[in-house]
Amino acid sequence: MQTSASKQPFSGLFFFLGSLVILFILVLLIFILWKFFKPGKLRALISRTAKPPGTSDALSVHLRTISYFNFHTLEKATNNFHSNNLLGCGGFGPVFLGKLGDGQLIAVKKLSLDKSQQGDREFLAEVRLITSIQHKNLVRLLGCCSDGAQRLLVYEYMKNRSLDQILYGKSNIFLNWRTRYQIILGIARGLQYLHEDSHIRIVHRDIKASNILLDDKFQPRIGDFGLARFFPEDQAYLSTAFAGTLGYTAPEYAIRGELSEKADIYSFGVLVLEIITCRKNTDLSLPSEMQYLPEYAWKLYERSRLIDLVDPKMQEDGILEKDVMQTIYVAFLCLQPHANLRPPMSEIVAMLVRKVALVETPTRPAFLDRKQRKDEKISWDATTDCFPSPLQSDSPSLSRPQK
Ligand SMILES: Nc1ncnc2c1ncn2[C@@H]1O[C@H](COP(=O)(O)OP(=O)(O)OP(=O)(O)O)[C@@H](O)[C@H]1O
Ligand SMILES: [Mg+2]
Repeated sequence: MQTSASKQPFSGLFFFLGSLVILFILVLLIFILWKFFKPGKLRALISRTAKPPGTSDALSVHLRTISYFNFHTLEKATNNFHSNNLLGCGGFGPVFLGKLGDGQLIAVKKLSLDKSQQGDREFLAEVRLITSIQHKNLVRLLGCCSDGAQRLLVYEYMKNRSLDQILYGKSNIFLNWRTRYQIILGIARGLQYLHEDSHIRIVHRDIKASNILLDDKFQPRIGDFGLARFFPEDQAYLSTAFAGTLGYTAPEYAIRGELSEKADIYSFGVLVLEIITCRKNTDLSLPSEMQYLPEYAWKLYERSRLIDLVDPKMQEDGILEKDVMQTIYVAFLCLQPHANLRPPMSEIVAMLVRKVALVETPTRPAFLDRKQRKDEKISWDATTDCFPSPLQSDSPSLSRPQK
């Protein structure tokens, strides 16, 4: 009796001290977690990696390598996909600005597609593939979400939005020649990576100013690469036409649907001219001979007035005329009517950084002949066949005096 009575207060004390130690360790743990991972970050981490409802084990292979966003997280981040958060709406669906719990800004693209055409497994496999393609001149796909009828892609947000806003949109940002040259070179490098250096060959199909995003330092990043993989072949092709981007489309793709890297190279040529002139490739409000940019550029070249193509604001600011002219000649090369005469992106990059011989005699680009364009029965196909090959071209030479 005496022994058990003396043991009782001792074990009570032991129990009390033990609980105190455990409590202390718990508080310490919570403090460390709170200090090093902010609560928002923790929540975002949990919701990002949450399995999509009904995920089978086979799918979890993909989920180990990509971030899966909970639909609720994206709803919250975009203020319930509020119209104030709408960044724009392209051929593949609307894009919303969002802010995650940890403060990271994202661009959420709600794909407008028929889910029956691609199962979850295929969707996640494509997302995984695109996520694996990374380059400093490509927009990063952070992850995705598939919820009910919705499929969403989550991209990093680019602070300076897309190039179209600056070239002919509402933005009043001015880009000097140095920045424009860096943008042209960056796009060329991004395309070179997609065409030649990444582990899978990707033809972008929709190179245009709105698909060039600019980061906080105005470094360009190509967006929307690989998007066509989520759509059936014919639909992806149509989306480009509906988005009104035919002015960028290479003749062989527009007419015969022949798709190769060379179609992107043609679009790149159109984009370079847009960047230098600061205007849209097609503008029917302009006097008739100026309406189609590649055609107008060539006319000016023939008259030795190519300098008139250059954005007057940029001229005022000061340009390196020789560099600008060289860049326009490179664009002419990209715009060749015959796909095999357009140089690959690696050569274009080399020309832009002057690692290979400069272009001395630009050759006539592909564009519709005005007389023929009025006659609807004559297609671009027929007109491109009439174009002189650069080998027999009577192009004026560089020795012509420039203004
Ligand atoms: N990652 C991003 N960061 C910032 N803004 C973006 C981002 N992605 C898209 N946007 C903005 O959203 C707009 C709409 O993009 P979206 O890709 O849907 O349309 P588009 O580029 O005009 O056409 P397409 O569907 O043919 O690509 C863009 O013009 C751009 O301003
Ligand atoms: Mg786009």
